[in-house]
Amino acid sequence: MNVNHPLQTATELCRADMQAVDDCIRDNLRSDVAMIPAVGTYIVASGGKRLRPLLCLLTAKLFGYGGGRHIPLAVVVEFIHTASLLHDDVVDASDQRRGTPSANGVWGNQASVLVGDFLFSRAFQMMVADGDMEMLRLMADVTNALAEGEVLQLARTFHLEMTEAECLEVIERKTAVLFSAAAEIGARVSGQDEAVVRDMAEYGMCLGVAFQLMDDALDYLADAETVGKPVGHDLEEGKITMPLIHAMAADGELVARVHAIADHGGYAEGDREWVRERVRAQQGEIFCMERARAYAERAKALLPADADAGLRRLMADLADFSAQRPF
Ligand code: IPE
Ligand code: IPE
Ligand code: MG
Ligand code: MG
Repeated sequence: MNVNHPLQTATELCRADMQAVDDCIRDNLRSDVAMIPAVGTYIVASGGKRLRPLLCLLTAKLFGYGGGRHIPLAVVVEFIHTASLLHDDVVDASDQRRGTPSANGVWGNQASVLVGDFLFSRAFQMMVADGDMEMLRLMADVTNALAEGEVLQLARTFHLEMTEAECLEVIERKTAVLFSAAAEIGARVSGQDEAVVRDMAEYGMCLGVAFQLMDDALDYLADAETVGKPVGHDLEEGKITMPLIHAMAADGELVARVHAIADHGGYAEGDREWVRERVRAQQGEIFCMERARAYAERAKALLPADADAGLRRLMADLADFSAQRPF
């Protein structure tokens, strides 16, 4: 299977809606403070996968939604994602994003933090304009969980005894809740029963966990050109992720080296490649991808059996893509 295919298929299927999403993004980046549209347009135009808004649009389509609320709400999700990336690249001291220098690399940390704040607050203005207290509650909770996830991860910097459960706790909060919200919004705007809304939220949650597990595998597996951001970078920043947890359980020398990296507060010459090779030798990234695949299977099982078969297939393929994507 060409794993890029479902993303392209989804984008083509939602072409008109995605055009409306792009227009809505552009409209909402307007500000008389010139640095805001400058930084905002830079990151937005650098071409992310737009997977979260796509999930929102596809879920609305799956339930035959005929209104227009899903467009600004999909933008809300993408703005929250983009704001979190602006902040994340500052926190992670990362200089590449989407194949170009990250916003903090171009404008500095202050601009990234502040424009991130603009995007978070603009997202909330857009939800107020939508006017549904349930939606506002959902997105307030999601944004709060996302912040907690990032802080929890920070608190666990170089926490070498990290367990799989602790790792998954961070993943659910920092990443999966936003995917969950994207799918939940599509079901909510189309007026589905609570049980269906819950299933779609859980579909998004499982897909999101798979997506972040794959991201953590790619840090040990991929090259920087393919993923458009630094690789071998997670441990350097003190993030103990699933591939490393698995490999350390079987490799005492690796544990010793990771302790030295923690004491040093980062890599010494040669550490990056050495650690990546040892993790791969223990198939840490394979283990991580298997866990991702299991989450993708759980996601697929939650799709409504009586929905349009083509759309259901596509949303199942997107779950698979999240767990085995090359970028
Ligand atoms: C990156 O998300 C942050 C993670 C949750 C791993 P994406 O991989 O969706 O980023 P873009 O939007 O496509 O650049
Ligand atoms: C996801 O974590 C970041 C957010 C949820 C904001 P990462 O730190 O792994 O994301 P990348 O690898 O920088 O895209
Ligand atoms: Mg990061
Ligand atoms: Mg990452």
